[in-house]
Amino acid sequence: MIVVTGATGALNGATVEHLLKRVPAERIGVSVRDVGKARHLAERGVRVRQGSYADPAALRHSFEGAEQVLLVSSSDRHADHVGLHRVGIEAAVAAGARRILYTSHQGAGVDSPFPPARDHAATEVLLAESGVAWTSLRNGYYAHSVLWLLSPWRQTGEIAAPADGPISWTDRADSAEAAAVVLAGDRRFDGPVTLTARQAVTLDDVAAMASEISGREVRRVVLDDEEWIVDKVADGMAEGMARRMLTRYQAAREGRFAGVDPLLADLLGREPRSVAEQLEDGSTG
Ligand SMILES: NC(=O)c1ccc[n+]([C@@H]2O[C@H](COP(=O)([O-])OP(=O)(O)OC[C@H]3O[C@@H](n4cnc5c(N)ncnc54)[C@H](OP(=O)(O)O)[C@@H]3O)[C@@H](O)[C@H]2O)c1
Repeated sequence: MIVVTGATGALNGATVEHLLKRVPAERIGVSVRDVGKARHLAERGVRVRQGSYADPAALRHSFEGAEQVLLVSSSDRHADHVGLHRVGIEAAVAAGARRILYTSHQGAGVDSPFPPARDHAATEVLLAESGVAWTSLRNGYYAHSVLWLLSPWRQTGEIAAPADGPISWTDRADSAEAAAVVLAGDRRFDGPVTLTARQAVTLDDVAAMASEISGREVRRVVLDDEEWIVDKVADGMAEGMARRMLTRYQAAREGRFAGVDPLLADLLGREPRSVAEQLEDGSTG
């Protein structure tokens, strides 16, 4: 059996949908915090059990009989993410899983200025120490989140943000599908694998794309980091949040999201969606 956590979330919810096209429903289990939100899966024959990284006993029960467990990276703000992932890994080991998969992020690194990257790296160390085969799916930066990094360019005609670096913006739906291909397939991937779109672009490139799509000039304006923080706080954002967001730019400047890898296209058997396509169809702006 393949057991998927976070199946009531966007990424792993989509992975379960793709799994249902590849393996019989009775071979799929989900471990979810709220079983009421997974009724649609139970109705299609998926085993639905309650489980949370905050409740080791329930988690173990929800992993019962799993050959593979897909652990979602915790998303709760202010949570001890690595501590929660440790509980997930220990429960998968206790359940006898033969492989643990984990939704990591491109640029995972203990020395990254971007805090989630440090959490992912620490979790990968736990996976390596678990004694069980593991795969860390280092997904590219969600392409839809480029919207959060942009100022409202459609109104202002400019993208005003701190200095950045190339990012291989990747469609979350593509990452979800690739996870299902890996879970259902015969190819084994040991350790971290990077799943990205084909192209890494800077905000200069995004401004050029936005100009072409909108038919009007969209200018890229580089703001000083502290000036940008002041602007965000003036717009009502808590300073701590603004400083956390700044770490994305800092990590991008260091080239931590710049890599591109052909594996995603290989797994999908088609080209991953590009950020240009997503900008064009309006899904990112
Ligand atoms: N690659 C990227 O650019 C990027 C960007 C943002 C986030 N991420 C990471 O990717 C993950 C998946 O993204 P998403 O878009 O699917 O997010 P999402 O829609 O918020 O889904 C997160 C899922 O994780 C579950 N979850 C959170 N904390 C948990 C816990 N303590 N125990 C058990 N389950 C828990 C949630 O359960 P409920 O359904 O009960 O809430 C939800 O199903 C996120 O959790 C985050 O770590 C990646």
